[in-house]
Amino acid sequence: MRVLIVGGGGREHALAWKISQSSHLDKLFIAPGNPGTAQLGKNIGLSESDFAGLASFAREEKIDLVVVGGESPLVGGIADLLQKDGILVFGPTKEGAQLEGSKVFAKKVMDKVGIPTASFKVVESHEDVDAALEQFSAPYVLKAEGLAGGKGVLICQDAHEARENASKLLSGELFGKAGARIVIEEFLEGKELSMLAISDGERWVLMEPSRDHKKVGDDDTGPNTGGMGAYSPVPEVTEELQDEIEKQVIAPVIQYMAESGIPYQGVLYAGLMLTSQGPKVLEFNVRFGDPEIQALLPRLETDLLPYLLGAAEGKLPREPLKWYSQACLCVVVASGGYPGQYNTGYPVFGLEKVDPRIVVFQANTRQENDEILTDGGRVLGVTGLGEDINNARNLVYGEIEKIHFTGMHYRTDLGRR
Ligand code: AMP
Ligand code: GLY
Repeated sequence: MRVLIVGGGGREHALAWKISQSSHLDKLFIAPGNPGTAQLGKNIGLSESDFAGLASFAREEKIDLVVVGGESPLVGGIADLLQKDGILVFGPTKEGAQLEGSKVFAKKVMDKVGIPTASFKVVESHEDVDAALEQFSAPYVLKAEGLAGGKGVLICQDAHEARENASKLLSGELFGKAGARIVIEEFLEGKELSMLAISDGERWVLMEPSRDHKKVGDDDTGPNTGGMGAYSPVPEVTEELQDEIEKQVIAPVIQYMAESGIPYQGVLYAGLMLTSQGPKVLEFNVRFGDPEIQALLPRLETDLLPYLLGAAEGKLPREPLKWYSQACLCVVVASGGYPGQYNTGYPVFGLEKVDPRIVVFQANTRQENDEILTDGGRVLGVTGLGEDINNARNLVYGEIEKIHFTGMHYRTDLGRR
């Protein structure tokens, strides 16, 4: 098969790493890719937003499957466009991608089919903010309806802060049009969990549980980020709990979407809070979690490619995915200042010294001559397996010290109990 991956971050490096091991693969392209994916396939200089360019590339190169990495092209309708050209795509259509692209849509689906989630109010104007806030108590959770690069959730400690932020969201000051409608919802307490399923529109296979760490600092302190690291499996998640999530969350969404004439094909990612009243959905995403997928794929024994193709064709393989019993930990190494302001362009040293049992997924890097330079907030995902999470942790944290760039920082507490 000839496969094109769309995107250029850590998730796409991890997908390229796994897909490049497939016995079904003939040729792998990544658009635009990064220096990490360049080792595994051919990077092509097209951005994920150049739908027309990607479509003509796929036609000319006789691509059998396009695997879309990120939410923004999906919400923008890349799958619809490629499908119109007769190209198979892994990832939902624009309508299906509303599960992530519109928090109001997602909440309404959950409401209709009775999926456990935080109670909520949709607010569209400044006048409605006070009445909505009165239905909840501090801390208040405010969410921009649209995509905001993972920053669209504001947790406010009192009503004053909530009112100010609601006003900045609605006026467009914070996230432009993405905040024109907001969701105000109940604050949920507990530990988070990511459950991902691959669906062909009718059937699905579940991936193993994983956990992301969104706060920038050790012990979950400081501001939210796109994710500072992840591990899989999640020790406290029993098979019963997985079954419960599959029955109460994954199955009803896929059934509802199919019945509504929007068969949902691609990844259904449920971000959950494990509350004292059971798991509740925080959000849906329509693509693999990043960094979660970096901590999942090294544990996956099964060849992923037939599942991605099967989903796109509506013929998902019937066998469940097989996983290695080892634990996997991915620690994100970020630029100094991230998630606030940071500089880029610093050379990354020491990658060649890292133990071959470690995979360093590149998230925001570029190559100049022989040097790998930092090129964004989250730079690397340093990932390793171990007999258990402690072993994985010792390996990864031992090896991370061999890597260096100016200003780098990472969490030192991941996988610690
Ligand atoms: P989301 O993009 O909806 O997953 O939100 C990003 C992060 O905000 C989540 O991973 C949680 O840490 C936090 N969050 C979102 N919704 C809630 C909520 N209702 N209660 C508490 N924390 C939340
Ligand atoms: N790890 C969070 C996300 O992918 O949205």
